[in-house]
Amino acid sequence: MQPIPYGRQSITQEDIDAVVKTLQADFLTQGPKVKEFEVKFAEYVGSKYAVAINNATAGLHLAVLTMGLKEDERVITTPITFAASANCVRYAEGEVWFADIDSDTYLLSLESTQRLIESKPKGFFKGIIPVDFGGLPVNLETFRELANKHDLWIIEDACHAPGGYFTDSKGNKQNCGNGNYADLGIFSFHPVKHIACGEGGMVTTNSEEHYKKLLLLRSHGITKEHMSENHGGWFYEMQELGFNYRLTDIQSALGITQLAKNGKGVIRRNEIATTYKEAFLGKIKFQSLPENALNAHHLFVVEVDDRKGLYDYLREYQIYAQIHYIPVHTLPYYHKIGYGLADLKHAENYYDNCISLPMYPSLSNEEQNFVIEKVIKFVSK
Ligand SMILES: Cc1ncc(COP(=O)(O)O)c(C=O)c1O
Repeated sequence: MQPIPYGRQSITQEDIDAVVKTLQADFLTQGPKVKEFEVKFAEYVGSKYAVAINNATAGLHLAVLTMGLKEDERVITTPITFAASANCVRYAEGEVWFADIDSDTYLLSLESTQRLIESKPKGFFKGIIPVDFGGLPVNLETFRELANKHDLWIIEDACHAPGGYFTDSKGNKQNCGNGNYADLGIFSFHPVKHIACGEGGMVTTNSEEHYKKLLLLRSHGITKEHMSENHGGWFYEMQELGFNYRLTDIQSALGITQLAKNGKGVIRRNEIATTYKEAFLGKIKFQSLPENALNAHHLFVVEVDDRKGLYDYLREYQIYAQIHYIPVHTLPYYHKIGYGLADLKHAENYYDNCISLPMYPSLSNEEQNFVIEKVIKFVSK
């Protein structure tokens, strides 16, 4: 049996041909493929606008700037996420506060977030960054209600969840990143995610104002629109301090062919999840699925008593399970700063037991059965 990672990309000849074709075309950077990818991605998630960026970390940075975050302003996120969900706030010199997770969905808890907000004076917090952890969509309708009550913005970190949805109280399916409840949605195209661009990301929104700001900030703050003067065809203005956070045409070509396969990929990921759940039901705890939601299953996370034991045991069989995540508030950088170290016991308990099992569309039934056999054998010892 070949080594089995926890996640991997699926690259086909079609993907390779698309990249080669772009390499032979006129534009390697800002050509037609970037716009095509943006239009197709917006259509896929159901948002009005999409802005391609060079990775999701850069997207999160632009997102907090677009929402106007300033020095010392405070934002709430989940401790069970990749550090980038919190780091974006620090890039803008804001403060990151953590609320606890729900112990069954492993998502940012609405109740814990509400308690944290209501324990402080009005205006103390500016925004919330919920994360569709593992591919499970946050119910953003409920977060929106809370955010509206306290005048907060919402950035949905949907890096794990292209193709996932929750169902709102009116019975409408709400795709991750569709911008109906969050101000902005962020996606990552790192190879372990659903759509592989090497590096890459997308910011989605329904706001034209946010869209224009994102375009400006993505490319140095330079524009040819609404200029205060114009010396001729070459002229441009730098109206803000922006960045070079652009995605290339080469990466976008790959993103387009990868995106076209994501529907099938999410179906296969859910087949794999169903097989795991059938094997583990009543024996091993796994991430729960709220009614009428679709988990896009970037990950398949379970909890076991002897997590380190299982991690080491699986490695003996070249099964490379992974841990998602070390709680962000315990990372030395955040621990030292120590913003609002509230009671985060669900996140800490979860970290003691969690382990992510192999989950990717090309995982074969034979490989999955091998993983299940070893996991069951270990926990039955
Ligand atoms: C939840 C989450 N947010 C943000 C990121 C950052 O993505 P990128 O690697 O594209 O910068 C990641 C990457 O692992 C992630 O898992």
